[in-house]
Amino acid sequence: MTVTAVCPGSFDPVTNGHLDVIRRASSRFDRLLVACLRNAGKQPLFDVDTRLDLLNEVVADLDNVEVAAFDGLLVDFCLQRGVTVIVKGLRAVSDFEYELQMAQMNSHLGDVETFFMTASPIYSFLSSSLVKEVARFGGDVTDFVPSAVVDRLAEHL
Ligand code: PNS
Repeated sequence: MTVTAVCPGSFDPVTNGHLDVIRRASSRFDRLLVACLRNAGKQPLFDVDTRLDLLNEVVADLDNVEVAAFDGLLVDFCLQRGVTVIVKGLRAVSDFEYELQMAQMNSHLGDVETFFMTASPIYSFLSSSLVKEVARFGGDVTDFVPSAVVDRLAEHL
């Protein structure tokens, strides 16, 4: 049986923490889709095309990984694309409460299981929001995001 999993997110922008989860998940599933929410509720820094370009660049060496945009419910995307597993990274207990609610809702709405992966400790404090804040005030983000993202942040901020 071929198992297709999805790593969903806003990826505004993709961080080394995201990439770590994507890489580790890609080694455990036959096929992995990285699904980028097109219309994130909050105003994104990067438009969806830029977020997709960056994602495609950073997963280019992973043969079983594909990047796609999605709108609406994640479970509908899963149904359309034959995805049976959602993979989420957990950085801390504070992530768990909301992730648990989403996992249970997604399981209720569709035939899809959520698998949680613990974040690697070196990335447990990392988020796209913090990266943007550090970059906005001129801080060094080279340890936190792929070099392509460093360049795009410099252009935008
Ligand atoms: O990177 P983020 O912003 O934490 O990702 C959140 C995301 C995109 C995974 C989540 O908001 C989502 O799945 N949105 C799609 C809408 C949906 O399915 N909502 C119900 C979830 S229970």
